[in-house]
Amino acid sequence: MRKYLIAGNWKMNLVPSKAKEFAEELVDNLKKINDDIIVMVAPPFTALEGVSNIIKGSKIKLGAQNINDNEDGAYTGEISADMLLDIGVEYVIIGHSERRHIYNENNEFINKKVLKALSKGLKPILCVGELLSERETGDTEKVVREQVVKCLNGVSREQMVNLVIAYEPVWAIGTGKVATPEQAEEVHAFIRKLIEELYDKDTASDLIIQYGGSVKPDNIDGLMVKENLDGALVGGASLKVDSFCRLVNFNK
Ligand code: 13P
Repeated sequence: MRKYLIAGNWKMNLVPSKAKEFAEELVDNLKKINDDIIVMVAPPFTALEGVSNIIKGSKIKLGAQNINDNEDGAYTGEISADMLLDIGVEYVIIGHSERRHIYNENNEFINKKVLKALSKGLKPILCVGELLSERETGDTEKVVREQVVKCLNGVSREQMVNLVIAYEPVWAIGTGKVATPEQAEEVHAFIRKLIEELYDKDTASDLIIQYGGSVKPDNIDGLMVKENLDGALVGGASLKVDSFCRLVNFNK
């Protein structure tokens, strides 16, 4: 049975001291989490180690927001897989739309990061999703297919058990405009079918596919009842203790 992954992407928010306070509150408030729910937070790099020390021994997992595709060396400003692993990072968000669109990361580059993360034993959360203009021209499936196929190039069936896909329609991110449960389910079902085509039925049915884009306490329940929605990747609403805890304890 697939689990739900409820993940907070803190983006470029919370200085290390505030991040630690916030993590302490989360640990206090999330002592009991259902067995079928995985909770993860992805602080900025500077807060990773502090948060790691606080959530150790709790049910909250640690994620990073990016990774470099090289092993080590002269890559000023970059962070390697080993650096993340050394401080207890388990998941890494790769190909977020903000990285695709603000920092021009393309599918080929994202693919290299996915391969590097998997080869080091990190669990990539591969983000895919269409722009509003692409949805309006009916190109959602074409765009998502291309992203999934190219970003998973060279990923083996065995490695797929460690990978998560997050469907994040770009028009829903930080806009307050959430996809309807039906819109999200349609794309999630499409992605699962595509994974079956690329791998096999078991790989597809075991894959966690998160939805991301303006997920809030008042819309998560309607999203999570959909068959192919296996959790949420949350930005804004993950930055408040009450709202993140409510998201983790969504009503099934
Ligand atoms: P919001 O929840 O703020 O829309 O952000 C979604 C997101 O980008 C998560 O990665």
